Amino acid sequence: MNIVVSAAEMQTMAEQARLQGRTIGLIPTMGYLHEGHLSLVEMAKRSCDVIITSIFVNPTQFAPNEDFARYPRDLQRDTELCRSAGSTVLFTPEQNEMYPDGYSTFVSVDGISSLLEGKFRPTHFRGVTTIVAKLFLLTKPHRAFFGQKDAQQCVVVKKIVKDLRFDIEIIVAPIVREKDGLAMSSRNVYLSPQERSEATILHASLRRAEQLAGSGERSAANIVRAMKSMIQQKQNAVIDYVEIVDADTLSALDRIEKGIPALAVLAVRFGATRLIDNALITVR
Ligand code: PAJ
Repeated sequence: MNIVVSAAEMQTMAEQARLQGRTIGLIPTMGYLHEGHLSLVEMAKRSCDVIITSIFVNPTQFAPNEDFARYPRDLQRDTELCRSAGSTVLFTPEQNEMYPDGYSTFVSVDGISSLLEGKFRPTHFRGVTTIVAKLFLLTKPHRAFFGQKDAQQCVVVKKIVKDLRFDIEIIVAPIVREKDGLAMSSRNVYLSPQERSEATILHASLRRAEQLAGSGERSAANIVRAMKSMIQQKQNAVIDYVEIVDADTLSALDRIEKGIPALAVLAVRFGATRLIDNALITVR
């Protein structure tokens, strides 16, 4: 596995791989890797020759009051995980490689960036789309792999690809969960034992939503009410949002209908830790 820290070197290496006719897959991450991240590497191996995993805790997607400084980091462990998962390149730039002095260019997507997560984290997606666009330019991937865990991020990334005509296929991988249903996240390490056990309610509430829709409930408001009342029973849970939205556009749905892919999405805080999760709701 090649370890690359320079943006210029990354770009040259990617250019050479392209000239040799090799297919490049990119897995952008912020590190502290878990099975969710590694599932993306696994998926990339199936269709790409060069597997670039990037690890960069991107300051511009964190608001000043968020957890940038304390975001968990363990580059040594991540390096070994990447190597054993089959990544061929690990790109770990320093902050000044990605945002050198005087850096002032941003990529932002109007509309969908201000829904859901954007209501609570208004500057978040501007940071995500800026760094993802820059990673695309440095690593020149044919395919880039993202997790459904961050459903809105997937929609926003697809939008920059479409609007800016990046010649990149975006592949979305399913959510990887712990045995008890909690979606894997680098942030789960922040949870106290009690918060960790309460957090299983998130997946349980999503399953309840699927079950209600499966047994004929069509009203989004009724499903949301049932989910909220489950979550609120947990002592430390504070709901930012629970919504049923169109999975493609993220606009709110009043009713669940056949043929419209509906997504139940939620963000809930347990103490200082904010967790997000989602599930597709299908009706027969
Ligand atoms: P990070 O949170 O490290 O996640 C990196 C990728 O792993 C994302 O595509 C995310 O959706 C995926 N992922 C995380 N947990 C997952 C799980 N339980 N199952 C499946 N996939 C999962 O998302 C980011 O980093 C950043 O915003 C980034 C795109 C790297 C830009 O900085």
